[in-house]
Amino acid sequence: MFKKLAIGAAFALALTPAASFAAGGGEQHIEDFHFSFEGPFGTWDQNQLQRGLQIYTEVCAACHGLRYVPLRDLEALGYSEEEVIAYSAENFEVFDPELDDFRPAIPTDHFPVNDGVGAPDLSLMAKARAGFHGPYGLGINQFFKGMGGAEYIASLLDGYTGEEKEEAGTILYENKAFPGGWISMAPPLAEDQVEFTDGHPATVEAMSEDIAAFLMWTAEPKMMERKYSGFVGVIFLSLLSVLLYLVNKRLWAGVKGKRQH
Ligand code: HEC
Repeated sequence: MFKKLAIGAAFALALTPAASFAAGGGEQHIEDFHFSFEGPFGTWDQNQLQRGLQIYTEVCAACHGLRYVPLRDLEALGYSEEEVIAYSAENFEVFDPELDDFRPAIPTDHFPVNDGVGAPDLSLMAKARAGFHGPYGLGINQFFKGMGGAEYIASLLDGYTGEEKEEAGTILYENKAFPGGWISMAPPLAEDQVEFTDGHPATVEAMSEDIAAFLMWTAEPKMMERKYSGFVGVIFLSLLSVLLYLVNKRLWAGVKGKRQH
């Protein structure tokens, strides 16, 4: 009876739309956003990734680098080679040791490193953070909802309460998603800060989702290929199981005396 109740409670917790849990002294609140790339058949929403790139370029790049992402990979978001060449040259400068000087970026360069204000690199952030934990030790939330790195980033950007405080000369901003509840990053997004060519709304929540999806892509650009090979693997193993079952049945038929040949 107790076991049944415990399992029921674990499932109920896993399936609640938002997971709240205490971490580092603060109450952390992660919203369970629905991204197009979730689930076994989920795929990227290319327009969303393009909006995310625009938000990164116009807002986040001022403080955060994407050092592990080659600019030429942007062709995967639906841009032509010429567009990537133009985008790289217009937006970024890199230091070239051969010239001993800065020059406009070209597609074979990576996005620049940016550690000017102590903001972490965002290339792998969506994999480095988890949105869903508890109930502790079971991993059951991850099983149903994935790691939730993208959810964490979207919740973080959309999670400012508007409260601020000063601590040892640093201004901290209250944030519902950040462990501990206070982050030194000022709210980076404001309504209509970015204007999208596809006319998509630029609310803080919508932009938070777009940039989170883009950062999921930078962290795992080959996610669709991974899902596809996993799927082929499952089909192959299922067919193999059926064949092995039939072979087993045939080999033992004589011994079990069911079918004589
Ligand atoms: C004015 C500079 C600045 C801008 C602009 C900025 N950030 Fe930050 N960001 C920071 C700093 C500083 C930190 C470190 C905060 C801390 O650890 O208290 C940070 C931390 C983060 C973190 C890590 C939080 C964690 O769990 O450790 C994420 C994710 C993040 N920023 C995303 C973004 C995104 C996405 C954008 C663009 C929409 C953005 N930031 C724009 C300065 C900035």
